[in-house]
Amino acid sequence: MRKKITVVGAGNVGATCAQRLAERGYADIVLVDIIEGMPQGKALDILESGPVVGFDSNVIGTNSYADTAGSDIAIITSGVPRKPGMSRDDLVLTNMKIVKGVTEELVKASPNCIIIVVANPLDAMAQLAFKVSGFPRNRVIGMSGILDTARFRTFLAQELGVSVEDVAAYVLGGHGDTMIPLTRMATVGGVPVTEVLPEETISKIVERTVKGGGEIVALLKTGSAFYAPSAGVVQMVDAIILDKQNILPCAAYLDGEYGINGVFVGVPAKLGKNGMEQIIEIKLMPEEEAALKKSVDAVRELIEIMKI
Ligand code: NAI
Ligand code: 2OP
Repeated sequence: MRKKITVVGAGNVGATCAQRLAERGYADIVLVDIIEGMPQGKALDILESGPVVGFDSNVIGTNSYADTAGSDIAIITSGVPRKPGMSRDDLVLTNMKIVKGVTEELVKASPNCIIIVVANPLDAMAQLAFKVSGFPRNRVIGMSGILDTARFRTFLAQELGVSVEDVAAYVLGGHGDTMIPLTRMATVGGVPVTEVLPEETISKIVERTVKGGGEIVALLKTGSAFYAPSAGVVQMVDAIILDKQNILPCAAYLDGEYGINGVFVGVPAKLGKNGMEQIIEIKLMPEEEAALKKSVDAVRELIEIMKI
C-alpha cells in the first residue's frame, strides 16, 4: 500500500513541503488548512505538475481530518510565523493553541503516525505535541537542527569556496538564540575548519548562523524562511519512509541522554522507519555542555509559560 503523508498548514512551509514530497513520488499527500479552498487549490496545482515533473503521488487539499485518516507521517506547520523584530518565542501563546488542537485531531485520525513538528517556538511545540499525543518519544520529532546546520554549512562553504557537500557540521540545542553551532566538530573535506579558518571568521559565521532565521525575516518582511525549512522536513521524511538510518540533528525528547531529562532539544538522532530510533551522544567539552544546559533552560522557560 502507498504511504500517506499529511501536512497541516498549507502556508509557505506546508505547501512547499507538499510540493517537495509529491515530487519524491513515494507517498500520497494530504494538505490541511483552516482556510476554505486554499489547501484544495494548492494541492490541485501541485497535482497538475505531476505530468511535467513526472510523479504519480496523489495530492489532495482539505479542511477535514477525515481525509487524513491512516497517515504514516503527519507534519505540523500550522502556526503563525514571525514578523520583523519578533523572536520565535513571541509566538508561543498563539501557536500553542493551534498545535494542541491540530495534534488532537491528528491522533484521532492517525493513531499510529509519526509526527514531525515545524511550528515555532520549535522545541516547545514539539514538547506540546508529545504531551498532547501521548505517543512514545520515537514518534514525535521536531525539525530545526537540519535547517540551522544547513545555514552553518552554507556559510562555511561560501567562505571556504568549496562545495556544501564537502562541509560537515552539527548545530545542537534549541531552535533559538541559544543554539550551539559546534565549531570543534565542523570539517571541510575531513579537516577541522578550525585548522583552515581564522577564529574571528568562524565566530562571525557562528553569529550569522544563530541569527539566520532573523536575517530572512528582515529581508522578507512578511513571513519567515520556507525553502530551506521544507528541505529539512523532507530530509527527515526520506529517512523515515526509506528507513535510511540517517543521523540528523533533530529536536528529540531527552530521557537521560546528555544528562538531561524530560525535555525536547536539538541533538543528533538516528531516523528510520520507526521515527527517532536513537539519540547519538557526542562527548561534549565542558563549555559545550554548559551551552546545551543553557539552551535547555530556555526551552524549559517556554514549557513553564505553556503550563504543560
Ligand atoms: P504561514 O503563515 O505561511 O502558514 C501557516 C498556515 O497555517 C496558514 O496557511 C494558516 O491558515 C494555517 N493554520 C493556522 N491555524 C491552523 C489550524 N488550526 N489548522 C490548520 N492550519 C492552520 O507560515 P509558515 O511560513 O508556513 O510557517 C509556519 C510555522 O512554521 C510558523 O510557526 C513558523 O515560525 C514555523 N517555522 C519553523 C521552522 C523551523 O525550523 N522549525 C522554519 C520555518 C518556519
Ligand atoms: C527560521 O529559523 C522561521 O524558525 C524559522 O527560519
